[in-house]
Amino acid sequence: MSEPFSAVEVIVRKRDGEKLSDAQIDWVVDAYTRGVVADEQMSALAMAILLNGMDRSEIARWTAAMIASGERMDFSGLSRPTTDKHSTGGVGDKITLPLAPLVAACGAAVPQLSGRGLGHSGGTLDKLESIPGWRASVSNQEMFAQLESVGCVVCAAGDELAPADKKLYALRDVTGTVEAIPLIASSIMSKKIAEGTGALVLDVKVGTGAFMKNAEHARQLAETMVALGTDAGVHTVALLTEMSTPLGLTAGNAMEVEESVEVLAGGGPVDVVELTLALAREMLAGAGITDVDPADRLADGSAMDRWKQMIRAQDGDPDAPLPVAKESQDVLAPSSGVLTRLDALAVGTAAWRLGAGRSRKEDPVQAGAGVRWHARPGDTVTAGQPLLTLLTDEPDRFERALAILDGAYDIEPDAAYTAGPIVLDRVEA
Ligand code: URA
Repeated sequence: MSEPFSAVEVIVRKRDGEKLSDAQIDWVVDAYTRGVVADEQMSALAMAILLNGMDRSEIARWTAAMIASGERMDFSGLSRPTTDKHSTGGVGDKITLPLAPLVAACGAAVPQLSGRGLGHSGGTLDKLESIPGWRASVSNQEMFAQLESVGCVVCAAGDELAPADKKLYALRDVTGTVEAIPLIASSIMSKKIAEGTGALVLDVKVGTGAFMKNAEHARQLAETMVALGTDAGVHTVALLTEMSTPLGLTAGNAMEVEESVEVLAGGGPVDVVELTLALAREMLAGAGITDVDPADRLADGSAMDRWKQMIRAQDGDPDAPLPVAKESQDVLAPSSGVLTRLDALAVGTAAWRLGAGRSRKEDPVQAGAGVRWHARPGDTVTAGQPLLTLLTDEPDRFERALAILDGAYDIEPDAAYTAGPIVLDRVEA
């Protein structure tokens, strides 16, 4: 087949800071997926995009080309409106687990295609896979039926969903080009638009434990993604949320399931409850449901009922005991005072080193491994009390986890501490 462009002319155009044409974008994404554009050529183009950027219409076209590389799901035949959430990833971020059944209990359908974790931030599928029997793989027909009967599905995205993104994301990961806002925004939004949700809430994390370390970059990413969703006809809103402190009291697969179940039972850490409710309200508003207060559905047990139905529908046993790590080690508070800082990146990296996360996508994860912290910033601690508990099946992992936690927290005598808000900002079209 003769090709309408050469990869080199497309690379040179972006290298020289010019705008790519629609036809060039359509071709280069398709030709890369077909293997006609080589990895080294796409790496050069990704770097040129990182350095020179793309305008709104180029990003929209790039996103559309990635969607067109695979299937587009359609849930318009469901009796309930669809709404979903995507988080850019954080430490202790288990929010999807209570959120999906909660929003289902309020009358919407949540079709959530999720991923596994890579690096210091955990993956939703890894967490759910710590539940005995639970299966991440669900066929499209099953997904439709479960959305109609239960109202929520959290499952693995199939190979047919935006295959261009799968290939490109793996390449970016090894070429220093993950951080380009046009590429992050198009990567996330191509999958969410192809997933077929009617409304979408983006949880864009800001802080040490997040992809975006400062609010300005996070806002830029949020605005780009909101524009892409809106242009594609998806009702899209973004919340910028705090991620310098880890969420809740645990980071680790089974422990995060346990904490999510506490939230569904009407308890759980206040920050997890607050963020779950804030995101639920946005998801419901996007789906046009404004007459139900999600706090009532947590309190009356109906969100918990949906959770159990969702887990059982995917062959899991919601009442089975969760795996527990074989070994544990406490980190004791070195002095008395107020905990004024607990660094999210260090806690996430420690959990990862203990076996909760993976370095390569084919690595296994331990269900019981991770970190539990016994105080949050603002709490008073006493010298010698356990501040953190590290858990793993392999005790030789403790040393490297302890090393990263050195300097990860501050305790100050008599410090006045005021917790900042979790939701920092809201971006809509
Ligand atoms: N998550 C994605 O899916 N894609 C990116 O590029 C970054 C984070």
